Amino acid sequence: MAGKGWFRFTPTAPATRFPSMNTQINPLTLDSAVEAVREKWPDAKPRCGLVLGSGWGEAVADFHGSEIPYGQIPGFGKPGVMGHAGKLLATTVGGMELLVFQGRRHWYEGEGWTPVILPIYLLHALGADTVLLTNAAGGIRDDLDPGSLMAVSDHINMLGANPLAGPHNPNLGTRFPDQSEVYEKVLRKKLLDAGADAEGVYIATSGPTFETPAEIRQYRSMGADAVGMSTVPEAIVANALGMNVAGLSCICNWAAGISQTPLTHEDVNKTAAAAMPRMKSTITRFLEGLAHGSE
Ligand code: HPA
Repeated sequence: MAGKGWFRFTPTAPATRFPSMNTQINPLTLDSAVEAVREKWPDAKPRCGLVLGSGWGEAVADFHGSEIPYGQIPGFGKPGVMGHAGKLLATTVGGMELLVFQGRRHWYEGEGWTPVILPIYLLHALGADTVLLTNAAGGIRDDLDPGSLMAVSDHINMLGANPLAGPHNPNLGTRFPDQSEVYEKVLRKKLLDAGADAEGVYIATSGPTFETPAEIRQYRSMGADAVGMSTVPEAIVANALGMNVAGLSCICNWAAGISQTPLTHEDVNKTAAAAMPRMKSTITRFLEGLAHGSE
């Protein structure tokens, strides 16, 4: 059959393979990525990073600066998901230097951990101490109806994998990172002050399927308030590196079984577009607060 059929599968890195020389990230890939960014922005000293999830692209429409396409940064690859632009933007908010990752890579894209977690290692290598991770999510808790904004208070990792698995590099954090407070309390308060409606626990599945109603019932009983397919890998890595982490979910649909209609990525994006004015003002106020505050 192999090679003769109408379809040939080109294998990408399987979930269980640790790339050779890898720690959590291949240091050579990270060095090349830092070099590519330094070449374009030799004096950049970002304090904070912003990772834009599904539906969040327009939230930075009023932020201006210089851009690098992901294709020019080794290790990033090309986002394969609709609505993820694939550019890194250097800008300032309230005098604070910010790097915006316009487009996220996901575990389910099948290219291994590097494109998913490289933005965090890159931020850390460039000196940033804070990252805001945004995403689209399905609402599980009764008050989290579509259009609401949830500050992530904690997470549950249902990806079935951990981005820190593999040979350990002690320069990139301890082998067994504490996760008692991945999402920093002060930043959670800042998100609420900036316009988030509520706090809640985000559960990450590997995707790319949406969940079944039975899975959502299970996740609810586990303490999950919203469900999505991202954010947790980056949060795990940033926390392990000692960075301050904030997470913000735009609830774009009721989760499976609660929703009366089948779920689609297009509808997720439509709800995000309708909520965009609030998404925009919330992240802008949050970032301005960060720029002017002590943290
Ligand atoms: N499940 C998983 N990911 C999502 C959802 C959902 O219901 N909505 C937006 N992203």
